[in-house]
Amino acid sequence: MHFLTYLYVFHPLAADGQSCVGRCGDPGNSSTCGCNVACAANGTCCRNHRDVCLSCRGRCGEPYRNGRLCQCDSNCKSHRNCCDDVTFTCSGIRRGATTHDLRELTEKLLAADVNGASVDLRLDLQGKGMSDDLAARPLFKTVPASALASPTIRLLEELQDNYSPNVTTSEDEEPDEVAEKEAFLDAVMQTQVMQLTESFLKERGFLTGNLRDKLDELWFTLYKRKKILSSSGFEHVFAGEGEIIKVAYKWMDKVKKAGSMFVGTSPELDMAVYTLCILTRPNRGCAVQMNGHKFNIQTWVQKSDGKELVGAAFPAI
Ligand SMILES: *[C@@H]1O[C@H](CO)[C@@H](O)[C@H](O)[C@H]1NC(C)=O
Ligand SMILES: *[C@@H]1O[C@H](CO)[C@@H](O)[C@H](O)[C@H]1NC(C)=O
Ligand SMILES: *[C@@H]1O[C@H](CO)[C@@H](O)[C@H](O)[C@H]1NC(C)=O
Repeated sequence: MHFLTYLYVFHPLAADGQSCVGRCGDPGNSSTCGCNVACAANGTCCRNHRDVCLSCRGRCGEPYRNGRLCQCDSNCKSHRNCCDDVTFTCSGIRRGATTHDLRELTEKLLAADVNGASVDLRLDLQGKGMSDDLAARPLFKTVPASALASPTIRLLEELQDNYSPNVTTSEDEEPDEVAEKEAFLDAVMQTQVMQLTESFLKERGFLTGNLRDKLDELWFTLYKRKKILSSSGFEHVFAGEGEIIKVAYKWMDKVKKAGSMFVGTSPELDMAVYTLCILTRPNRGCAVQMNGHKFNIQTWVQKSDGKELVGAAFPAI
C-alpha cells in the first residue's frame, strides 16, 4: 500500500486548519502557509492551495492581486489570466449549446417567423455558373407586393439605400441613417424570433448584455475593407456588397455571383440565425434545421478594434 505515502506531504508550516480560502496570493510567513505562485517553488504552500486558488469558487469579483495562480476579477479576460472556471462559476450559467439545441431552436424560430413572405416566392433559376450573370430574366418569377409588406422588410428596404457597394468608398453615417438603423433594430427586437433568440443566448451563457446592443455592434459597426472604414456585417450580408445577396431586393440592379441565401424568410429570422451561429459556432459550420432540412451556416468573424463583428454569414449549401 505505497500510495498512502504521497497522499499528503506535510510541510511544517502547513499545520492543520491553515487554508488558502480567502488568501489566494498571500505569500505566507513563518507561522502561516503560503497561497501564492512562489510558495510552490519553496514547498511552503497550504495543502488546499491549488484546489482553492485555481478556481473562482468563492472568489468572483475579488480584485486583482499579484502572485495568484489565476484571477477572477472583471478584467481577467482581457488580461488572459482568468481561472478556467470563471465563466461557469461567476456568471452562474453554463456556456454551451449542442447541435441538437441549435437545430431545435432554429426550427422554433422558423415557426415563429410571422414576417416571412407568406406566399411562395417562385424562383426562375436560369443559367448556372460562377462567372457572370447568366440569367436574362429576374430571379423571382413573382414577388407579390404582400411578400414585402411586413414592417421589418419595409424598414430593411429603407436601410439599404444607405450603403455603397463600392468597398473603396468610405461610408458616412448621417443622422437620418442612424435613425433608420435604430428603427430597424427596434422593430426586429419586438419580434418573437428575436426574443426567443435572446432568451436562448442568455440562458446558454453566450450573451451577457442585451441582444439589441449586440446586434448593433455585430452588424452595424463599420470596419475596414481595403483600409477604409467602408463596411459592416449588415452591409456585407444584407445589402449585397459581397458574395451574399438578400434576393428579395434588388441591389443596384447588380446580380451577385456564387451567392447562397435564404429565400422568403424575414430579415429578423436571417439576422437571428446568423447571430446565433456567430456567437455559438464562430468561424465554422453551425448546424441548423428548417422545415426538417438540416444544413450548416458558415460564419466568419471580422476583428476590428478589439470588437468581434460579422465578416460574413451564409448558408453553406
Ligand atoms: C502571517 O500571515 C498571516 C496571514 O497573512 C497573518 O495573519 C499573521 O499575522 C502573519 N504572522 C506573522 C508573524 O507575520
Ligand atoms: C520563498 O522563496 C523566496 C525566494 O525564492 C523567498 O523570498 C520567500 O521568502 C520564500 N517564502 C517562504 C514562505 O519561505
Ligand atoms: C469606387 O470608389 C473609388 C474611390 O472613390 C473610385 O476610384 C472607383 O472608381 C469606384 N469604383 C467603382 C466600381 O465605382
